[in-house]
Amino acid sequence: AERAAFIAALPKAELHLHIEGSLEPELMFALARRNGVAIPFASVEEVRAAYAFSNLQDFLDIYYQGMGVLQTEQDFHDLTAAYLDRARADNVRHAEIFFDPQGHTARGVAFGTVIAGITRALDDARERHGITSKLILCFLRHLSEEEAEATLDEALPWLDRIAGVGLDSSEVGHPPSKFARVFARARSLGLKLVAHAGEEGPPEYVREALDVLKVDRIDHGNRSLEDPALVARLASEGVCLTVCPLSNVRLCVVGAIADHPLRAMLDAGLHATVNSDDPSYFGGYVNANYQAVADALDLSRAELVELACNGFTGSFLDAEEQAPHL
Ligand code: HPA
Ligand code: ZN
Repeated sequence: AERAAFIAALPKAELHLHIEGSLEPELMFALARRNGVAIPFASVEEVRAAYAFSNLQDFLDIYYQGMGVLQTEQDFHDLTAAYLDRARADNVRHAEIFFDPQGHTARGVAFGTVIAGITRALDDARERHGITSKLILCFLRHLSEEEAEATLDEALPWLDRIAGVGLDSSEVGHPPSKFARVFARARSLGLKLVAHAGEEGPPEYVREALDVLKVDRIDHGNRSLEDPALVARLASEGVCLTVCPLSNVRLCVVGAIADHPLRAMLDAGLHATVNSDDPSYFGGYVNANYQAVADALDLSRAELVELACNGFTGSFLDAEEQAPHL
């Protein structure tokens, strides 16, 4: 309980959060009703019972199905507003939020509808809660690089609202190098770059993300620990890893929370952060993620402070914007 109060009081930044993964079953039902969309569940309990995954793809199948209820600008606003309210309750002061436009444009929802709803909620939350945010457009790596290029074209009118691009969805078989050209173009446009790597994929994918894509952060990065030379490099270059403990348990990236490599990461000098990934699907927002690893690995207050500080120093905020939180 003392630890819970300490975690709750820490000012935090969240750097790995898929906005579509914050869709709670209650809102899914409300939007299904509002939009006349059929969903294959009879109750909120039935939805939660379906969230038993044995790997990343199991989850992705249900995640893409769930986002089908999102249709209007108001839906994207309500989704984002609900996340920001919940994050603020966990004392999140800054959030860098992923969105998956291809999960929507493939269903006939316009890119502009998605980003107009999300950014309206970001602006409101800044006013209402003082919470700052940045948006990161993720390319779906199971689709082609041409489709990613077309998505970046659609984003051009919105570049003042987009801080960076990322890479998510099915990792194995879709290495970072598949997206070398579109990431180079994003970089030339002044965008920050991140990529999911080493969640299910091998350490080689983390190296490719760094060397070929030239990313500023690695999302997850767990499997880097299999490669000591890579670990040494991540430490010496101070590369931020956005680690997601409850996600790792639910997607069977780790056997159990007690086996989570977060302490090993900190001991190796890695700049790890704690994040919720898809909190509606994985059973907890950011404080629950801190609590789970802190309890399982008996993290000290100094280690919890280090993790929280890493969230701000690993963020895309300017140094002057980070300073008040450190
Ligand atoms: N990994 C890959 N793709 C994703 C994830 C994840 O954890 N969450 C949403 N899309
Ligand atoms: Zn993720």
